[in-house]
Amino acid sequence: MDIMRTKSIDELRAGAEKQGLKKTLGALDLVMLGIGCIIGTGIFVLTGVAAAKYAGPALMLSFVLSGAACTFAALAYAELAAVVPIAGSAYTYSYAALGEIIAWIVGWNLILEYSVGSSAVAAGWSGYVVGLLKSGGIELSKTYTAVPADGGVVNLPAMFIAIFLSFLLVRGTKESATLNRILVYIKLAAVLIFLLLAGPKVNPANWSPFMPFGFSGVAAGAAIIFFAYIGFDAVATAAEECRNPNRDLPVGIVGSLVVCTILYIVVAGVLTGIVPYYELNNAEPVAYALRAIGYNMGSALVGTGAIAGITTVLLVLMYGQTRVFFAMSRDGLIPHGICKIHPVYGTPHVITLVAGIAVALIAGFTPIGIIAELTNIGTLFAFVVSAIGVWVLRSSRPDLPRPFRCPAVPIVAPLAVISCSYLMYNLPVETWIRFGVWSAIGFAVYFAYGYRNSLLNRSPQPAKK
Ligand code: ALA
Repeated sequence: MDIMRTKSIDELRAGAEKQGLKKTLGALDLVMLGIGCIIGTGIFVLTGVAAAKYAGPALMLSFVLSGAACTFAALAYAELAAVVPIAGSAYTYSYAALGEIIAWIVGWNLILEYSVGSSAVAAGWSGYVVGLLKSGGIELSKTYTAVPADGGVVNLPAMFIAIFLSFLLVRGTKESATLNRILVYIKLAAVLIFLLLAGPKVNPANWSPFMPFGFSGVAAGAAIIFFAYIGFDAVATAAEECRNPNRDLPVGIVGSLVVCTILYIVVAGVLTGIVPYYELNNAEPVAYALRAIGYNMGSALVGTGAIAGITTVLLVLMYGQTRVFFAMSRDGLIPHGICKIHPVYGTPHVITLVAGIAVALIAGFTPIGIIAELTNIGTLFAFVVSAIGVWVLRSSRPDLPRPFRCPAVPIVAPLAVISCSYLMYNLPVETWIRFGVWSAIGFAVYFAYGYRNSLLNRSPQPAKK
């Protein structure tokens, strides 16, 4: 069946070697990279929604569940990233390991991870900006700062940041390692200030009832706050730039996940300990909670840090989405024209702007919870497929050099599949329906366009780098 045609791994590897990225990253760099991509809207915003609507104070347990699933998925993902070390993503890996149609499905879901995910992050950014302006005495009308489902008309600040960052990306502004490091410190400082100010004010009475919605609430909470961990895959994709991938990659991946999981659990505990969990369903719960206990200045400081942190995450996600589109169009699965390179800036300007407008429109009109859940289901699905891919490649191509080997693959890969599927299962049925519709559109596009225009279809050679 030619929908199962694969790209040749050996050609992909040869191409990557030619690219010859410098091997400069060590374990600490990877941990910083991971934290830079991970901490954002999830912890600063969705914690509130998840505590109020699903898990209550037991959100701490949700973070443990979700963090464990991410650890298994990340270890498996890292092996694929190292075997097929082309700057790319689960899309490329699946193309080589599992076949074109699977790669298409994964790519189509990565669009959810990056594009719809960007919308959720932009919405989170808006919540903190509006809150910060309000503390400074500038109150923006809800009509223009909230989506219709939340009593407004349009979320203009969210649209603004999406469009603004698209223009930056067209100009080719990429974060430098130094800027990333500074922003990571600011972001961590925001979290630490919150913990230092709020920690002593915890009132254990707020933790009771601990599990107001039972264990099913904890599981549903885990499924939504999975969003807070998205971004750890960025560490895995840095395999070819690692000095010593076999040692540093697992340290980088597990290290950044452990740091984030610990921070998330403590933040969730403190947040639900200083205000009753049912008050947290708002656009900037961390800043709100600090104001509620009287720290207006601290709240503004944490809010500013959150805005800086969320902006970096948004930039990384929006950059990631253009890379996925780019890889898919290079393979002929989506039209070449939309990935044209700008003659002066050297960036794929058409797709960057089109995607930026799509991100803005979604963020402008859709509630953050809905878009975060849709992002999660797509991302989790891509991780399930990647974990299966690792397994398949171990038996189909045992000969391949593996700069990083996932430890105990017969245990870790199935655990990744099971735990990610479990989180998917815990997402609301509406999310599944949206996911179904998205997948159906994906199949229609593939059979109407991609299948025929795939480079693998046109050339007699089975592979193309
Ligand atoms: N993990 C990222 C965030 O929480 C996507 O914003």
